[in-house]
Amino acid sequence: SPLQQQLDDLQAFQVIAHRGASGHAPEQTLPALELAHEMGVDYLELDIQMTADGELVAFHDERIDRTTDGEGELRDFTLESLKALDAGSWFNAAYPDYADEAYAGVEILTLGEVIEHFGTEMRYYLETKSPELYPGLEEAMVEELEAHGLVESGSVIIQSFSQESLQKVHALNADIPLVQLVWYYPESDDSERLVEWTGVTPGPSEITDADFQAMGEYAVGIGTNLTYQDDLQVIDAAFIEQAQANDLLVHVYTVNDPAEMQKLLDWGVDGIFTDFPDRLNALVD
Ligand code: G3P
Ligand code: CA
Repeated sequence: SPLQQQLDDLQAFQVIAHRGASGHAPEQTLPALELAHEMGVDYLELDIQMTADGELVAFHDERIDRTTDGEGELRDFTLESLKALDAGSWFNAAYPDYADEAYAGVEILTLGEVIEHFGTEMRYYLETKSPELYPGLEEAMVEELEAHGLVESGSVIIQSFSQESLQKVHALNADIPLVQLVWYYPESDDSERLVEWTGVTPGPSEITDADFQAMGEYAVGIGTNLTYQDDLQVIDAAFIEQAQANDLLVHVYTVNDPAEMQKLLDWGVDGIFTDFPDRLNALVD
């Protein structure tokens, strides 16, 4: 079946376009997604949140300030008012080397618009973002994915830092492959062990086979950071090996430096989230 094909394909290395090809174009907007598609990525990664009127949109921050010309909490805006915002000009100002006047005025996208644009041939790696802010987010997402036939076509992974959110999705549709996100901090002088953000798993130096197996009850993989504040490495080859020995895939975010990408490839990681899929493709091909 297509769903089994997806699981088989996940055994090979996956290029995951983080918020689209977001190094090249404004994150989560059509130009970034189209560029990623043209680069031939395996998955489009998107963060999904909910508008004041219950629509699902692709957007990372809880506030709209950084990536639009508006101000405030996303959840306070209707879809119509979000659609009126400019979600591209900030990119041109922040990244003049990559600026393109076509990016000015691009819109925030709904999940439905993304799926209708790219269809079931594309694969989507969707994060339930800040799910505690959005009661009903999981139900709305699963309903939308099922309505478009994306689960049976093997076109979607759902990821979250929230174990509770993933378990809700699992209860709604047990066929959706899930990835548990974690975010590791470095060991500091005054901490007894590595601290982990969600409370789902112990730090990478203390994680046990049983911890990985508990994640494997609902998830096909773990998504972890490689570094803290860009330079402090928080996982190593042994962490990846142990996760894989417990039948979990390991996907690492967000890696844009080719030397770091190559290190992870050498470690045998199963996938990398990157803002620059072109750089990763150059190493994988
Ligand atoms: O979803 C993987 C990675 O994107 C998690 O971090 O903050 O970029 O959503 P963030
Ligand atoms: Ca994400």
